[in-house]
Amino acid sequence: MELISMIFFSFSSIIIIFFLPSLLKFFASVGRNLPLPPGSLGWPYIGETFQLYSQNPNVFFASKVKRYGSIFKTHILGCPCVMISNPEAAKFVLVTRAHLFKPTFPASKERMLGKQAIFFHQGDYHTKLRKLVLRAFMPESVKNIVSDIESIAKDSLQSWEGRLITTFQEMKTYTFNVALLSIFGKDEVLYREDLKRCYYILEKGYNSMPINLPGTLFHKSMKARKELAQILAKILSTRREMKLDHTDLLASFMGDKGLTDEQIADNIIGVIFAARDTTASVLTWILKYLGENPTVLQAVTEEQEAIIKSKENTSSGGDEKVLSWADSKKMPITSRVIQETLRVASILSFTFREAVKDVEYQGYLIPKGWKVLPLFRNIHHSPEIFPDPEKFDPSRFEVAPKPNTFMPFGNGTHACPGNELAKLEMLVLLHHLTTKYRWSMVGSNSGIQYAPFALPQNGLPIILTKKF
Ligand code: HEM
Repeated sequence: MELISMIFFSFSSIIIIFFLPSLLKFFASVGRNLPLPPGSLGWPYIGETFQLYSQNPNVFFASKVKRYGSIFKTHILGCPCVMISNPEAAKFVLVTRAHLFKPTFPASKERMLGKQAIFFHQGDYHTKLRKLVLRAFMPESVKNIVSDIESIAKDSLQSWEGRLITTFQEMKTYTFNVALLSIFGKDEVLYREDLKRCYYILEKGYNSMPINLPGTLFHKSMKARKELAQILAKILSTRREMKLDHTDLLASFMGDKGLTDEQIADNIIGVIFAARDTTASVLTWILKYLGENPTVLQAVTEEQEAIIKSKENTSSGGDEKVLSWADSKKMPITSRVIQETLRVASILSFTFREAVKDVEYQGYLIPKGWKVLPLFRNIHHSPEIFPDPEKFDPSRFEVAPKPNTFMPFGNGTHACPGNELAKLEMLVLLHHLTTKYRWSMVGSNSGIQYAPFALPQNGLPIILTKKF
């Protein structure tokens, strides 16, 4: 009996040793033999990059979806890509199989923001950073800075009064100041001007050719990046000497003894980058949509006036009352305006991932190394999901959208940890804007520009005046 089993095991071992490579090859070829998604890879090397940039990128995506369906292949900026524009596929890439798709950015962008910043990572390092960032931006933390955000909002609005302003430029200053507040607490005022000067030079080089030679934008940017890191090192050492208690993002990072100063600096610069232009673009679109929809503006204004009245009734007169976190939860109409703006404008039209190995999705092969782009904007503009999608209609959010159909802040492991702060700073600004000011748009406002987020033409020039 023993002899038979010995012979059997030796025989099977021989079979395994001899045939395993072929078996593996066979299973690999099953994956390889799957068809690629439909679509065209365009010209060798160039692919379809010209088609993408010769028109509004959203027209390019929409025409592809119409022709090939919600999953298609293309080749842009030197990379073969699979684009996906349905909620289930986006969930597959961003949530359920997120480990198979790593975030990917051009190397020059990584150098500029800092290689150790949260966006570029997966696994344990990413999980650790995410916990630290979420700790600083969850409701329990941001509710403590409502009145400080309010002071920044009031100062900003006052400085725009009676002037012709470029909405986007001014909103960038507002969102930059709020970002610094959330990172450094009230200490931010001390460093605001130096940080601003360096950050503004850094961002100018963000979309420049990555040539690091004296005189180029990229070189200036890299120099500003170094200076930013030096300022941050100074802030870190001052904090270590003072040993005071803080509850901001910097404190959260410093509380983790495993993070180096360089890692902290990369992540602070990264958060400023993630927080500023995104929120400023959405605010700019909100002013445009409210300006074009007087009944919606009226409803928002009445909701905000009711908050002021309710505070007058509950306390004994005198000075203007400060807003609280609880007040920000009593703004359903204004919140729906923000949601609808996030949907219609979809300022982050898509995000990038890269397949870490061959992946099968619905009978198609997504080859290892290919880029995968979930197209948020196409999902947000799908008439099956959002009827009459081009229409600005905040009331559609009276009913919660179906899961995975509304992703202005992304989805899954890299979803935006700053979304509570972003919504809060928009609500606070809109509270003071609608109750105390009126604005009129100047010039033609029908065009869209990409910088790189979608923006109303020329950043929406407006004139802002006090109501009474
Ligand atoms: C309306 C404004 C904002 C929008 C529309 C927005 C949108 C997004 C989206 C779509 C992502 C995910 C990207 C991806 O999956 O590739 C993201 C990630 C991120 N956002 Fe935001 N964001 C906004 C404001 C903010 C603010 C105010 C902060 C910080 C205070 C912030 C910090 C971040 C960070 C750190 C990440 C990376 C998360 C990770 O990789 O785990 N964002 N944001």
